[in-house]
Amino acid sequence: MPDTRLGPIAELRKLVARARARGIGDIVRLSSDRLVENLSSSETLIVFVRPAAGDRRPVEGAALRRAVAEDAERYERDIGTDAAETFVRRLSDSTRCYGVEFGGTFMHATWITTKAAWTRELRAHFRPPPGDAYVFESFTRSDARGKGLYPFALREICHDLAIEGLARVWVAVEVDNPPSLRAVTKAGFEESWRITYRRTLGVLNVGPPVGEGAAIDDHEWVTRLPGG
Ligand SMILES: CC(C)(COP(=O)(O)OP(=O)(O)OC[C@H]1O[C@@H](n2cnc3c(N)ncnc32)[C@H](O)[C@@H]1OP(=O)(O)O)[C@@H](O)C(=O)NCCC(=O)NCCS
Repeated sequence: MPDTRLGPIAELRKLVARARARGIGDIVRLSSDRLVENLSSSETLIVFVRPAAGDRRPVEGAALRRAVAEDAERYERDIGTDAAETFVRRLSDSTRCYGVEFGGTFMHATWITTKAAWTRELRAHFRPPPGDAYVFESFTRSDARGKGLYPFALREICHDLAIEGLARVWVAVEVDNPPSLRAVTKAGFEESWRITYRRTLGVLNVGPPVGEGAAIDDHEWVTRLPGG
């Protein structure tokens, strides 16, 4: 299984890119949120699934396409969740990025993997079952939210993946993220299982997966690597 974690220098580059795209205030907020989160927090991730095959619902003026290495500078400027260099480094045969162009700009981006995605909250890799894909790091620019770009992207991505022969698409959403819950539901996803994790003074405790989907699949979703 590939280790998709980034090293400390790459993480620093990501932060700088984020500050450039979204302002220094965003970084201050993020840092204080992470500090509080480490001291004491409890979160639940809901894991949703849908068949890859399904209908498409166009949004006027929006076009989804697979992002390539040449999009790195644009990605850093328009989306800002990665520096150009780390964007390129993360693209692989099993991990790709899709962008939604709207008015000549990438207004939304979403990553998918068929192998594993590093999930900071769980300090582990999240791994979809073989033959399926997992959606992660979805982001719509604040000036384009509420226009249906995320559900549009999800439906288009599912269509693309069905053509490639993938069976199902999964996505995990924090229980306290109503916009994301709303968007994945609009895109036809249904809850499969959930997992709760707690942090106390930096010590992470991950509970067992709960729900019908976890049992049906009998699949090891959360995979720790040495040092993970
Ligand atoms: C979650 C997110 C990707 C949704 O993207 P989107 O393209 O705005 O999706 P939608 O247009 O379908 O909006 C989803 C819901 O957000 C809410 N919303 C609408 N306008 C909004 C705004 N300006 N700001 C925030 N939320 C808004 C609405 O409830 C909307 O659903 P509804 O219009 O059907 O009631 C986006 O809010 C985002 O990037 N958030 C920060 C990163 C994040 O949470 N990513 C998801 C990780 S799983």
